[in-house]
Amino acid sequence: MCGIVGAVARRNVVPILVNGLLRLEYRGYDSAGLVVVHDAQLDRVRSTGRVAELALKSSGLYGELGIAHTRWATHGIPSERNAHPHVSRNLISVVHNGIIENYEVLRAELTEQGYEFTSDTDTEVIAHLIHSHYAQGNLRVATQMALAQLVGAYAIAVVAADNPHQFIAARKGSPLLLGVGESEHYVASDMSALLQVTKNVVYLEEGDVVEVNLANYRIFDAKGNAVQRPLHVSELDNDSVELGEYQHYMQKEIHEQPQALANTLEAVCNSQSLVPGIFGAEAAGIFPQVESILILACGTSNHAGQVARYWLEEIAGIPCGVEVASEYRYRTSVPNPKTLVVTISQSGETADTLAALNHAKATGHSFTLAICNVPESAIVRQSKLRFLTRAGPEIGVASTKAFTTQLVVLFLLTLVLAKLRGRLDENREQQFLQELRHLPAAVQKVLALEPQIAELAKHFADKHHALFLGRGMHFPIAAEGALKLKEISYIHAEAYPAGELKHGPLALVDRDMPVVSVAPNDALLEKLKSNLQEVKARGGELYVFADANTHIKEADGIHILQMPEHAGFLSPILHTVPLQLLAYYVALQKGTDVDKPRNLAKSVTVE
Ligand code: G6P
Repeated sequence: MCGIVGAVARRNVVPILVNGLLRLEYRGYDSAGLVVVHDAQLDRVRSTGRVAELALKSSGLYGELGIAHTRWATHGIPSERNAHPHVSRNLISVVHNGIIENYEVLRAELTEQGYEFTSDTDTEVIAHLIHSHYAQGNLRVATQMALAQLVGAYAIAVVAADNPHQFIAARKGSPLLLGVGESEHYVASDMSALLQVTKNVVYLEEGDVVEVNLANYRIFDAKGNAVQRPLHVSELDNDSVELGEYQHYMQKEIHEQPQALANTLEAVCNSQSLVPGIFGAEAAGIFPQVESILILACGTSNHAGQVARYWLEEIAGIPCGVEVASEYRYRTSVPNPKTLVVTISQSGETADTLAALNHAKATGHSFTLAICNVPESAIVRQSKLRFLTRAGPEIGVASTKAFTTQLVVLFLLTLVLAKLRGRLDENREQQFLQELRHLPAAVQKVLALEPQIAELAKHFADKHHALFLGRGMHFPIAAEGALKLKEISYIHAEAYPAGELKHGPLALVDRDMPVVSVAPNDALLEKLKSNLQEVKARGGELYVFADANTHIKEADGIHILQMPEHAGFLSPILHTVPLQLLAYYVALQKGTDVDKPRNLAKSVTVE
């Protein structure tokens, strides 16, 4: 949450900063701002609108050194005075992502020293602290001294008005990477912001401080020692972060699912059999010892975990618990060191998931696996084992392709563990591998239903509430459908296991409450049909997402979306897609900001 860009060059960096911020807007979009150093002055522009507005406001500005920020408010309302960059005495300017926990004490001390605060943010203390140490004239040393006084998480970039060719950046608990160009350098919260200028990247490590000059850079670790970090060439290309022919990133990302699934499955589908090594070199030693699974994740990623519980218990016969990361980290649980702790995260930087992982480790868990879409992210680095989903950058705040790729990885985990436990014979393994190979094509067929789903969506635009029903491994899919709808259309949507209907939510059902039902042709279909009758008998309007041979008929009050295939254990993946499209088209009907829904952010790096 919150996006940072910084640049030093021998040309105007304002376009680099603005283009970078446009790429980072998914991280927060309450307000935005930038500072450039020019003629020994800090020129600052801030705006409570979107980055596009900042671009207009800063169009006349020139500077060869600058820092910029797009904000998701934590301390202080979204307003121009709280927007970053923050400035101390016209000399020091700072952008910051993260939370400074001891800012109140520091603020009191700095006020005492005569510093005047002009915002309600925690960040402003960083600017004044650096200023207070800058008397020595060394911006890097002043920053290091200030950082030593901070408690909390940060990624920062700092400039000084009297230092026209240098900026300082640092990270601890929030992501930041250094871009290396030809006689120019940059920092950003993620690579997508820098593809416009370079693919050469250095991932900064926890506690690193980097002094960035025109011609070179110097990295210092948490102890202040000069260190070398490897230079990587990013595999991302600029097209993967362009909107192309689509109206919104969410629509683009929904349509990218066949390719994202194929990419994620590539290594596996080309091989003849599954081996633990796909989860990391140490998996072969760890997996045979594993007695149970504990999945920790938030939001959509948590729903992926909930689906996996059905697979892991039924196919691999291994006990599995799934917890909301923010709850797990604060409860007293009973650790079993033979449990494999699996964290699932698109971003790899969700604060609650990271804290839950560390909590698990602190209680004695050493078997840790990260399923993540961002290489080198904190959650990946802090786990023993890993499987990277290859969904490509996901920019829409509502997660789509990350979810379905997480599901296939969890299915692979299930198969590998099932095999090790003697529950997957050669034939079944080959059959599952074949089903996985077919999956991208099956998803493509579901995407072809888009026009019908767009029609169905018209029925929802004037509704205030919706109920989503599913049974078994499709209940988490109903929950994911409800989450998508509420996130982007602001319609209150709740999911229930269909069998629970009569224990409460049936009281809500009337013609104004659409009921969406995930109806795959599986063992629970007949039970589900009875639940649907209960809704119909109360005058409820049903929207049934059925698949091959479910024989549920369109009738008064029953709308059917007929999906072409039933995918067996992989059915939750297919059933996700129409629910994503439903939410998308309802949001279009309502005219909401699909990719940047109000109050939300994509990477939630605060508690
Ligand atoms: C935020 C996003 C969700 C996401 C959740 C977990 O709430 O808006 O789309 O599911 O965080 O994020 P993660 O990156 O850990 O999967």
